[in-house]
Formats: sequence, structure tokens, C-alpha cells
Amino acid sequence: MIDIKDVVEEIKNRCDIASVISEYMPIRQSGGNYKGLCPFHGEKTPSFHISSSKQIYKCFGCGEGGDVINFVMKMENLDFLDAVKLLANKCGIEINTNMNEEDKLKMEKIKKYQDIHLEAARFYFTNLSKGKNPGYDYLRKRGLDDKTIKKFGLGYSQKSWNDLIDYLLSKGYDKEDLVECGLVNHKQESNKYYDRFRNRVMFPIFDYRGNVIGFGGRVLDDSLPKYLNSPDSIIFNKRFNLYGLNFSRKNIINRTIVLVEGYMDLISLFQYGVRNVVATLGTALTEQQGNLIKRYADTAIISYDSDEAGIKAALRAIEILSKIGLNIKVLNLRDAKDPDEFVRKYGLEEYKKAIDEATHYIKFKIDHLKKSFNLDKDEERVKFGKEASKIIKELKSPVEVDYYTNYIAKQINISTESIKKEVYGKDYNKVYNNKYKKFEKKSERAIEKPKIIEKGKELVEETLIKLMLESKKIREITLLKLDKTDFLLNESKEILNYIIKNRDLDKITIDKIKSLNISEEYLKDLEKISLDGIDMNDIKSIDEILKNLKKNNLQEQMNKLLIEQKNIEQQKTNNDDLKEVDVKVMEIALKIVEIRKMLQSL
Ligand code: UTP
Ligand code: MN
Repeated sequence: MIDIKDVVEEIKNRCDIASVISEYMPIRQSGGNYKGLCPFHGEKTPSFHISSSKQIYKCFGCGEGGDVINFVMKMENLDFLDAVKLLANKCGIEINTNMNEEDKLKMEKIKKYQDIHLEAARFYFTNLSKGKNPGYDYLRKRGLDDKTIKKFGLGYSQKSWNDLIDYLLSKGYDKEDLVECGLVNHKQESNKYYDRFRNRVMFPIFDYRGNVIGFGGRVLDDSLPKYLNSPDSIIFNKRFNLYGLNFSRKNIINRTIVLVEGYMDLISLFQYGVRNVVATLGTALTEQQGNLIKRYADTAIISYDSDEAGIKAALRAIEILSKIGLNIKVLNLRDAKDPDEFVRKYGLEEYKKAIDEATHYIKFKIDHLKKSFNLDKDEERVKFGKEASKIIKELKSPVEVDYYTNYIAKQINISTESIKKEVYGKDYNKVYNNKYKKFEKKSERAIEKPKIIEKGKELVEETLIKLMLESKKIREITLLKLDKTDFLLNESKEILNYIIKNRDLDKITIDKIKSLNISEEYLKDLEKISLDGIDMNDIKSIDEILKNLKKNNLQEQMNKLLIEQKNIEQQKTNNDDLKEVDVKVMEIALKIVEIRKMLQSL
């Protein structure tokens, strides 16, 4: 198919949304539609609805909704084009978007090389899983179980020069292709072809979609090089790839990713239950990899080896990631040499704790710097102070500047004033205050207004209102359980008043409330909302809607408080009486805690 737009249309025509969704979760028919437990937020009674006629889904609990492509994007954590490709594949649509001959050949080659790699991965895996062999023994000795070995497709390359070549040739592949994609070496002088990987444990390297694009092969003893990796090829580019992302992208929590250095670290963490991990495979983190992380996370927890090389690599990764604008923390491995050893020694809970307690990268840099000075000597203390001041210069937020200036000052028993002078020069008052002012100006602009209420939340209210108009029984039950303040929209409040006045009517038609001051949009929504999927006699499902209403309201209150808090923090100036501001922030914090408690008890 030529045009991507046609592809999208055709996907929507051919892929029935209910059947696609049913591959991911149980759903149950209800009238002409379906419902189930929403996969995007925790719930016990189903508020996730699928409309067959409209080919869309909508959760009345969390507001998530869209078409079949949105669902796959969200569920698989894919971007638009990849979700389209996945679905096109599923319903047998060929995508051939306006390609010239050269691109087409390239696409075909990529496909062929990925096929070869998949074939090779299966071959190595069979070597490892059939009968006794040194590769399997090695992995078991390292503590990996069969399930993990299978999940990561780990394999073994025999101690042979031509095992893989022979196999792949028998499958009809071409020698030159095997060389070009990096699985086979060719010696020019003697014109000999031989397997690149011999007598090694094989780690297939996947791209984020799960295609095999290369291998890492580990020796079974202490010989060197410890790992041999596939060379870059048309399908494999180390700079652009992160090991494990195909597994972890579905397990990212709170938009936080843990970054490790090695195959074994990642696999071991996975086996123990840490699943939001990616690995850089020993090379320095690149900007492209940083951008890839940014797609899935706002916070990166660096968990590199604890030796000097690991610390250096962490410092380099910090430089890259801070430019990209991620929050960066560094995990403390205590006495373990790498995450693999840590999780084996201390277990999952301790690793999780270490994630929670990871150090802010500025503190990590200051602490690292400190190690190269003997702070017992005055001279060295001064030098440390000067060097540490340079780190402070990178910081943009005045709150952070204050915090870490204090931190340095405490280490060397020096006044924060002198550190600020060091950072901003002699005229530090002027420079420092200017920096503040700039920040203030920016934050004046940045003052956030409470966002308009999400459509999903509106729909919950409107659905309930419609139910109350429709059924006297529901009206009676609900009026006992809610009042005006539970609604976010003025329209809902106004209609509620009307309903209270006319509660004895059997059914209140939408026409009747048109005389009230209700927006066109609200009325349209009311008319559109279908109550087909809701069992009016089932008090539980009405209760569920009520609960969502209260939840939305509390969330909205909390959002407002969070924004208020942020605005106060941002407006905070040098001259403000800090205590007064802090008290305000604290008061709001207490209210937020209160609301959190109420939310939890719902
Ligand atoms: P490590 O030596 O920390 O590897 O190197 P590891 O995965 O923890 O290995 P084990 O625990 O000794 O089995 C980190 C990463 O650097 C790359 C590999 O990708 C490795 O996972 N590396 C290391 C190489 O590519 N070649 C090497 O010779 C060594
Ligand atoms: Mn290791």
C-alpha cells in the first residue's frame, strides 16, 4: 500500500478493535459493546468500555481512550508508526510507502539479515538447550534459571570453525551475506570462511521492537576478550541501540529507567524482578541512546559497576543525560562490584531500596571529587572548594544552588557566601541576583494555571447526570451519597439542583434541562452518552461511577494544590522571608497528604 494514510484507514477497517484488545486482556460482551478491567489503571469493577460501532475504547475510570492504534501504542509503548506497522502486519496489509528502488533493496536486505540473525539465535539456543554442553553449565553456575535463559534466548556457539556457516548455508543463505552481517569472518589471504563466535555463551541483541540484530559472545573462562560483539552492520548500530529495551519498555514504572553496563547485570536484575532496566553494553553512552531513554523515561538511575572504570563511565553518562534534560541519579552498590552481584547478595528489596535512595548526580559528582583531596589539609580544602564550585555553576535552579552550596560548605567548614563568590566572581551579589531575576522572570511566565478538566473526567460526571435524569431509582440512591461539591463542572452542579427539585419525576428528559444555563457542548455530550453498557439495576456499577466521581474531584483538588505549591516555590525570591514561604508550602503539603489518604481509602 502506498500512502500511510490509506494504511491507517485500512487498518481501522480490517482490525476489529474488540478482537485486538481481547488479545491483551479479558473482555466481556455487554449489549453490542464490550467491557473489561482497565489495563491502564488499577480497578476491581470494569469501567473500560469498547464500542464496536465506533471502533473506539474508553475508560470511564481513568479517562484513557482512543482507537485501535492508540490502544496498541499505549499497551506496547510504541510510537505511532511502529504501532501502525504492528497492526498492518497483524491484518495482512503490506506497507510499501512510496519507496524508490534503492530504499526498497535496503529494506529487503535488512529483512534478510534479521531473518539470518533470528535463525542463528535459534541455532545457538538449540545448542545450549539440547543435552549437556559447557554453555549451559556456565549459565547455571552464574545463577540463571531455565526461564530466564529462554526469555533472553541465550545460546551457545560450539567449539568449531564452521558449525554456524554450515547450518546457515544449508538454509539457503549466501556466504557473502553471512560475512556482511557479521556472523562469519573471511580471511582474504587464504580465502577461508569461519564462524566469528566459537565456544562462547551467546547473548542475542534485540532492537526495541524485539528483532535480533546482533550478538554478544562471552568466553567460558577468564580469557580475553571477555566479550566478543557483532560488528556494526546495516541492522546493528551500537550507538543507537540499548540492550534489553524490547523487554523493559513494557515495564517502565513512573517513567524511570535503570541504566546498567552489562548483559549479565540486566538479565540478573530481570530474573530477580527489576524490569525497568536497559544496558549500554560497555561502550560509552551516546546522545542517541540518551534520546531513546528520553522517549520512555524522565528519570535515569545510573547503576554502573562500582570500580574506577564504572565511575568514569557514570560521569560521562551524566554529561550526556543532563544535556538531554533527564533527571539523573546514581545508585550506590555498597560493596558489590556490579548490580548482578548486588542483587544476588542482598536481594530484590534491597536493590529497590537502593533505587529509591539513589544519589542526585550533583551530589555524586561532588562526592567523587572529594575523594581526590585530603580535606585535613587547609590547602587541599581550598582547592576542593574551588573545584566543587565549578559543579555548582551547572545548576539552573536557585533552590538547587542553595542546597548544594550548603552541602559543599559543610564539607569544608567554609561559609556559603565564599562559595557563591567563587562561583559567580567578586561581583557575586550582582551576578547571583541577576541569575535569580532571570529565573524569576522565566518562572513568572511559567506560572501554571490549573489545567482544564480532562474529557474523561467530564464524561464520568455527565454519565452520572444522565443516569440520574433517566432513572428515579438511581436518583434516589445517588442523592443520598453525593452533593454539589462532588462535581467539577458548573453545569453538573446546576443540573443537580434541578434534579433535586424534580426528584419525584419518573424520567427527566434532556429537553427539560435545556432551559437551564447549560453549554451546547455539555448537552451534546449528554445526548451522545450511551447507557447501554451500564446495568441500571446493579448498584455496584453505579457505586463504581460514584467512586470515580469522588476520585476525580480529589485528584483535581490535589492538582490545584500541587500547582499552587510549585508556583510558590518558583516565585520564591532571595529576599523573601524564607520561613513564611516554607510555612505556606508545608501547609499545602499537609493538605495534599490528607487528600492522598482520602484517595487511598476510596
Ligand atoms: P562487564 O565486564 O561489566 O560485563 O562489562 P558483565 O556483563 O558484567 O559480564 P560478566 O558479569 O563478567 O559476565 C560490561 C559490558 O561491556 C561489554 C559487554 O557488553 C559487557 O556486558 N564488554 C566487556 C565487551 O564488549 N567486551 C569486553 O571484553 C568486556
Ligand atoms: Mn559483571
